[in-house]
Amino acid sequence: MKTTISMIKADVGGFPGHVSVHPELMKIAEEMLAKAKKEKKITDYFVGKCGDDLNLILSHTKGVDNKEIHSLAWDVFKAGTEVAKKLKLYGAGQDLLSDAFSGNIRGMGPGVAELEFPERKSEPIICFMMDKTDPGAFNLPVYRMFADPFNTPGLVIDPTMQGGFRFEVYDTVQGRKITFKTPEEMYSMLAFVGSRSRYVIKRVYPGPGNKVPENEAVCCVSTEKLSQIAGQYVGKDDPVAIVRAQSGLPAVGEVLEPFSFPHLVAGWMRGSHQGPLMPCSMEQATPTRLDGPPRVVALGFQLADGKLVGPFDIFADVAYDYTRQKANKIAEYMRRHGPFEPHRLPEEDLEYTNLPKLQEKFKDRFSKI
Ligand code: 13P
Ligand code: 13P
Ligand code: MG
Ligand code: MG
Repeated sequence: MKTTISMIKADVGGFPGHVSVHPELMKIAEEMLAKAKKEKKITDYFVGKCGDDLNLILSHTKGVDNKEIHSLAWDVFKAGTEVAKKLKLYGAGQDLLSDAFSGNIRGMGPGVAELEFPERKSEPIICFMMDKTDPGAFNLPVYRMFADPFNTPGLVIDPTMQGGFRFEVYDTVQGRKITFKTPEEMYSMLAFVGSRSRYVIKRVYPGPGNKVPENEAVCCVSTEKLSQIAGQYVGKDDPVAIVRAQSGLPAVGEVLEPFSFPHLVAGWMRGSHQGPLMPCSMEQATPTRLDGPPRVVALGFQLADGKLVGPFDIFADVAYDYTRQKANKIAEYMRRHGPFEPHRLPEEDLEYTNLPKLQEKFKDRFSKI
């Protein structure tokens, strides 16, 4: 029997502003999912949060893109929105772009990452949640986990990993996709995924010779772009991802290692600034300094017949103190640029903000040089 892990997230109201999820929202989600578990609609669940994003981690046997599962998540977000409205939380229902559920939550605002697979003898998974950034923030770490031998020693010394991995990459501008095989096409792939505002890694599959079959995705990232759905800025796309680990796949430590480098990601204040990605515990994921810096939380689980054994809140570990310190230093450095690039995003990445309105307002004041 196959297990499906669905990570579905939405910002349905921040407290205060865009900082965190109010305990009442966590409570209603917890209650509704406990009921769904009791009624055997899902096998297990965990309610997580990262900044102002409410993250539902669901395990079940219904496969990906399942209507009942998506509808359950939608109902939780709807109920959360009602609570948020009562408490007048900031941006109540922010990520729910429609009033009626259409059968699939994708394209309706919330972010979704799902994997379906037969559980191995032991099945460690890491569920990542980010706030104040967008799906492209996963490009660098996911590339490093599965394709960089300087990050992942297994690529060099585990014979079952020598066949490499295949990366499914989405072009979010033209709505098309492509698959690259590493290590053979590593340079070409980097030419694309280095442009992280446009090309995003959606899934990773094992290459030939791996213990995991080649058609079984081992990593999935939510790639929903809110602005492209809504046509205007309605908050960042604060992504999530699921990664399976060990036994032919990167070990847990290899999956986590890329996050020891606080790389620059797009997001932060008003979704319009570059800032360092700071790994932290779920409790520490409260972006306050200029609504940041952007955060990443990693929850580790062992799956046991669909039961989510965990979570282990990984970045709470002291091993990431140095990275946090470095992220704070980089945040300080970037902040000193104020409204100037490269702190502020380049013009083309601001097309859904208020900047175009300002350009329109002043267009007649320009004269030819
Ligand atoms: P596996 O090949 O069993 O995943 O072991 C690798 C490991 O755990 C190294 O840290
Ligand atoms: P969120 O996307 O997390 O709601 O943040 C929006 C924002 O404007 C932060 O400054
Ligand atoms: Mg928000
Ligand atoms: Mg958010």
